[in-house]
Amino acid sequence: MRAPTSDLPLVLDGISLQAGATTILDRLNLTIAPGPPTLIVGPNGAGKSTLLRVMMGLASPTAGRVSWGGRTASPPLRRAIVFQRPVMLRRTVAANVAYALAQAGTPRRQRAERVAALLERVGLPDLAQRPARKLSGGEQQRLALARALARDPEILLLDEPTASLDPAATRGVEEIVLMAAQSGIKIVMASHDLGQVRRLAGEVMFMVRGCLRERAAAADFLDHPTTPEAAAFLRGDLVI
Ligand SMILES: Nc1ncnc2c1ncn2[C@@H]1O[C@H](COP(=O)(O)OP(=O)(O)OP(=O)(O)O)[C@@H](O)[C@H]1O
Ligand SMILES: [Mg+2]
Repeated sequence: MRAPTSDLPLVLDGISLQAGATTILDRLNLTIAPGPPTLIVGPNGAGKSTLLRVMMGLASPTAGRVSWGGRTASPPLRRAIVFQRPVMLRRTVAANVAYALAQAGTPRRQRAERVAALLERVGLPDLAQRPARKLSGGEQQRLALARALARDPEILLLDEPTASLDPAATRGVEEIVLMAAQSGIKIVMASHDLGQVRRLAGEVMFMVRGCLRERAAAADFLDHPTTPEAAAFLRGDLVI
């Protein structure tokens, strides 16, 4: 039997993104392979969200090459992204997940069972029939994760998913993210919360002005940054 093809590693080869005269991403070379979560940190405007959007195929680089599992032609289906503020369909919680399953090509007869399993996985089984837009911020973010997991992703991109949440809701989201990572899903997540980086990251990518300035195991980055910008960032100095 042929081994199933994987979409990883994701390789960015000389990726730049220009908007007019502005360089948003500046000649990035990086590989994302299976493994513990990769956290992207850096000051506002560093290009973290843009990088995630390129990985999701929502933004097109103006130079360079992106490949998935060695292929450039067919972008992967098993990738998903969750943003800081999810947009919910004006339907029930269950219907939001069912819609994501339909989009992912799950046969209709399997959907009800999968919806139940996904809502269980994110801790929302009791809210299945609630209108999604009536959920709290933390519950909406759990639902956003359920919708993302409905795609059975190999890689899950997260753009500051807890930035609007209180500590209890943040913990709930982090537990789901850690569970996803333990189940083998590659997590790539932008965060401003250094405590969160310590809790979740296997490795850190530190960006400044569209460049990848540092990439290291999380403990090494947090305790022994090698660039002056990263040291200043970790001290809480303004890095512009
Ligand atoms: N479509 C666009 N056209 C022009 N400039 C853009 C566009 N999208 C993003 N930018 C600029 O690119 C830079 C990087 O933005 P991006 O949102 O990726 O940064 P970020 O690291 O996610 O910042 P934050 O920490 O605030 O979320 C910013 O200066 C932003 O204003
Ligand atoms: Mg951002």
